[in-house]
Amino acid sequence: MADRHTHPEARLMTMRRLPLLLGATVFLAVAVFSCSKPSPPPTPAPTTTAANTAPTTAPGTTTGRVRRPPPPRDSMTKLRAVFVAQVMKQIAGHENEAAERVFKNVQVLKGLTAAELVHKMDHDYAASLSWNCTNCHRFAPQGDFASDTSADKRRARFMQQMTNDLNQVQLPKLYPKDTPHVGCVTCHRGYNEPLDSALIPERGKPGGPPVLPPRNP
Ligand code: HEC
Ligand code: HEC
Repeated sequence: MADRHTHPEARLMTMRRLPLLLGATVFLAVAVFSCSKPSPPPTPAPTTTAANTAPTTAPGTTTGRVRRPPPPRDSMTKLRAVFVAQVMKQIAGHENEAAERVFKNVQVLKGLTAAELVHKMDHDYAASLSWNCTNCHRFAPQGDFASDTSADKRRARFMQQMTNDLNQVQLPKLYPKDTPHVGCVTCHRGYNEPLDSALIPERGKPGGPPVLPPRNP
C-alpha cells in the first residue's frame, strides 16, 4: 500500500479514481489492481479477478453494474407476526389488563398492559437483535411463552434489569434533568451482539477483544 503512494503516476491514478474508489466496496481488490497496472487506468472491476487476467471491459461499462442490495437486517418480521397474532388470540379480551396478571412468568416487565408487553417483545426485544420469538421462547410453536428453558430468555431478563438500572439509577446521577434513555437497540443495533467499534480490532486479532468461549445453553 505504502509503495503505491511513492509513485507519482500511481498517485495521480488514484486521485482520478477517487470517486470510483469511494463507491467500491471491494477497495482492497482495486488497490492490488492499481499496483500491478501502471498504464491507463482500466475500470476497476468489483470482482476478485486475479491481477494478471486483465479485464477487457471498456471504461464506463461498470456504470450499469448492478450492486446487490445488502440483506435486510431484520428478516424475521413476518415470522414474528405469526407468533404475535397467536398470542393476541390467546389473550383476547384481556389485552388491556396488567401483563403480570395475564401472563404466568413476568418478573421484570411490570406496569405494562398485556398488549404492550407483546408489542415490546416484537418491536423492542426481537427487533433490536433481529431475532425470532423462538430464540428466547423455545416452545413458542406450542403456545408456551412462560417457560424459562432458554438461556437467552434469562439473559434478556437480566438485560432488562440492567437497562432499568441504567435508566432509573445510573443515568439520572449524571443527567438529573432531561435524563437520556437507553434501550436494547442502543447497544444491540439490530445485531446479535453489540457491534465492535471500527476502532477496535476484530475479536481474536491483536489488540482486539478475546474470542469468546462457546456458550452452553
Ligand atoms: C431476546 C429474548 C426475547 C425475544 C426475542 C422475545 N421474548 Fe418474549 N419474553 C422474554 C423475556 C425475558 C420475558 C419475561 C420478561 C419478564 O420476566 O419480565 C418474555 C415474556 C414473554 C411473554 C409472557 C409469557 C408468560 O406467560 O409469562 C410473552 C407472551 C412473550 N414474551 C411473547 C413474545 C413474542 C410473541 C415474541 C416475538 C414477537 C417474543 N416474546 C420475543 C424474552 C424474549
Ligand atoms: C448497555 C448496552 C446493552 C444494553 C442496553 C442491552 N444489552 Fe444485551 N448485551 C450487551 C452485551 C455487551 C452483551 C454481550 C454480547 C457479547 O457476547 O458480545 C449482550 C448480550 C445479550 C444477549 C445474549 C446474546 C448472546 O449472543 O449472548 C441477549 C439475549 C441480550 N443481550 C438481550 C438484550 C435485551 C432484550 C435488551 C433490552 C432489554 C438488551 N440486551 C440491552 C449489551 C447491552
